[in-house]
Amino acid sequence: MAKIAVIGICGNSTFMTVDHFHQNGETLKADSIFTELGGKGINQAVAAKRFGAEVSFLGAAGADCINSCKEFTTKNAINGFWVKKENENTASAFILTDKNGENRVTVYRGAELCIDDVEIFEDEIKSSDVLLLQNEVPEAVNEKAIEIANESNVKVILNPAPARTLKKELCDKIYLVVPNEQEKEFIGDAVLENCITTLGSKGCLVNGEIIPAIKTNVVDTTGAGDTFCGVLAVCIAEGMDLKTSCVRAVTASGLSVSKKHVIDSIPKREEVERRMKNE
Ligand code: ATP
Ligand code: RIB
Repeated sequence: MAKIAVIGICGNSTFMTVDHFHQNGETLKADSIFTELGGKGINQAVAAKRFGAEVSFLGAAGADCINSCKEFTTKNAINGFWVKKENENTASAFILTDKNGENRVTVYRGAELCIDDVEIFEDEIKSSDVLLLQNEVPEAVNEKAIEIANESNVKVILNPAPARTLKKELCDKIYLVVPNEQEKEFIGDAVLENCITTLGSKGCLVNGEIIPAIKTNVVDTTGAGDTFCGVLAVCIAEGMDLKTSCVRAVTASGLSVSKKHVIDSIPKREEVERRMKNE
């Protein structure tokens, strides 16, 4: 079985649906409210688990949420490695979704991992096929994890979200960077050599070829990129080539946008394979 190590955040995500996004000075009425645990890291861990991998997750939480975080990883059969940050608030996100399923996300990163925390995860990284990272943890934490992965020839996949500068030296140590279009533009082509770009409703770009998105009824695109990255990591870990991996990641993320919120929208492998056979 493929083994994936994920480092990232996990905290409360509060969703509100609105007709449209704010104009300057406008106050909006929300039509619904919903809260679940989320964060790019934990979403990607769930996506990788549902696609059939053994998954380990390293995250930090404050006393306000650590028990819920631990229960969440246990319930989802993910090996949770949790660092309790006694006097800090856990990460939190506010997500507005409009009538077209598009979103506006604001994240408070809250209780953060530090470099020393990566030590408890060292054996997990070394025994994994892929280390999956995002930019919701401090850069120094990602750098430390990448160093450990490189020592053991573990492939690193970085979803550079939210966008921040990516040093060329660091990029050279990463097997694949998976930005969306805005993140790609921010980082720049000069840095990004090993790159798969997600293109929203257009699908994704791999080695100059577009893998088209599946046709679906769009309800909520939040977490589509996370589903893409989690599934892609498992396919790479299983030894599939990039194009074959992208077809699966595009199908899984396409299925995820047809359902509300994130965790419940992430499909299981069987659903992805069924959809691929039907097309
Ligand atoms: P998010 O931040 O909302 O998680 P993202 O910006 O990281 O997403 P996108 O490029 O928007 O990532 O989408 C990721 C993948 O999800 C796409 O490559 C595509 O396969 C799928 N997807 C997104 N939007 C749609 C859509 N409208 N229809 C079908 N598939 C979609
Ligand atoms: O990618 C979607 C995720 O980004 C949400 O779950 C939210 O928590 C933010 O971190």
